[in-house]
Amino acid sequence: MNVLVTGAAGYIGSHACKRLLAGGHRVVALDDLSRGHRRALELLDAGESLCIAEGSVGDEPLVTSLLAEHAIDTVMHFAALAYVGESVEQPLRYYTNNVAQGLALLGACDASGVERFVFSSSCATYGDPPEGLVPVPETCPQHPTSPYGWTKLVYEHALLGWSHARALSSRPVAVALLRYFNVAGADSSGVLGEDHDPETHLVPVAIRATREGAAPLSLFGTDYPTHDGTCVRDYVHVEDLVDAHILTMTSIKRGKAVAYNLGVGRGHSVREVIAAVERATGRRVPVVEKRRRPGDAVALYADASKITRELGWKPRYTDIVETVASAARWFEANPRGYDG
Ligand code: UFG
Repeated sequence: MNVLVTGAAGYIGSHACKRLLAGGHRVVALDDLSRGHRRALELLDAGESLCIAEGSVGDEPLVTSLLAEHAIDTVMHFAALAYVGESVEQPLRYYTNNVAQGLALLGACDASGVERFVFSSSCATYGDPPEGLVPVPETCPQHPTSPYGWTKLVYEHALLGWSHARALSSRPVAVALLRYFNVAGADSSGVLGEDHDPETHLVPVAIRATREGAAPLSLFGTDYPTHDGTCVRDYVHVEDLVDAHILTMTSIKRGKAVAYNLGVGRGHSVREVIAAVERATGRRVPVVEKRRRPGDAVALYADASKITRELGWKPRYTDIVETVASAARWFEANPRGYDG
């Protein structure tokens, strides 16, 4: 397939590009490089199968010309601002970036006859699930607790509306809403990893905190109604996650819209993740206990049985220590990230 990958220079986008290229697909990698790393794409060393384009998904003329020039049939839309805490501080920036610019992308896709659209959605669209609904199924009511979660939900609705309308026309489209839980880990060949600036995600922050002289990890909230008082999340390995994208992309049918949760199906508290980092690195994670972080849901882990049942996807990484260890290996080899 000819695939436009947005946010291609980001953590998940770059891993997806690598996997798509390995599968023989042709990739146009679009990124505005505000938070991504061109180096991650250059490291893929993919020759003519990969075209790197710098620009915004909101630049409709640019996207339209890429879609036409490369005969794109499929879009994987990863580009987004994705910090829960930042979205609480700057909600409208999140709507402009994740919704308004995303709609410009969709407009270009519609006009250009794109057939398949795979969207990086989030378990943040569920917010705090009602009691008894964890693990969270796709049918869980969606009530986000952060502007970030709301922007993902609004975009899901736009895609559902588009898909519904196009199903009634002579040009049906296939849409997949992939709701990620917490993505962690790094490419097993060691080429790609997670390099955010600022870094706020628990696994990389905890790994960095093990270094000599590094700032201790701030543990946000120890009074949550969970078994050890800290938030519970489902940590899915980035390679499993991108495998699910390829599987979905090649299975979805035009005229249909599907939603799948992508998670391991097991929750780990923040304290358990810290313990996993200590086991994986053999070093201590110094911790400072802080107040709750606004926008955080209490406990979110996936019922991901739908994609297993329908497409046969099963995560290979089910041990949090292995997932964390793969991230730690990349940090060891690239202590200053891609720009080091
Ligand atoms: N945490 C800390 N200290 C830190 C960083 C995180 O205690 O320095 C805690 C958070 O408060 C939270 C947990 O670790 O309880 C996980 O936090 P992350 O920031 O790693 O991940 P989030 O759960 O907030 O967000 C991630 C993705 C989003 C996605 C969301 C769904 O960044 O894109 O998962 O829960 F939508």
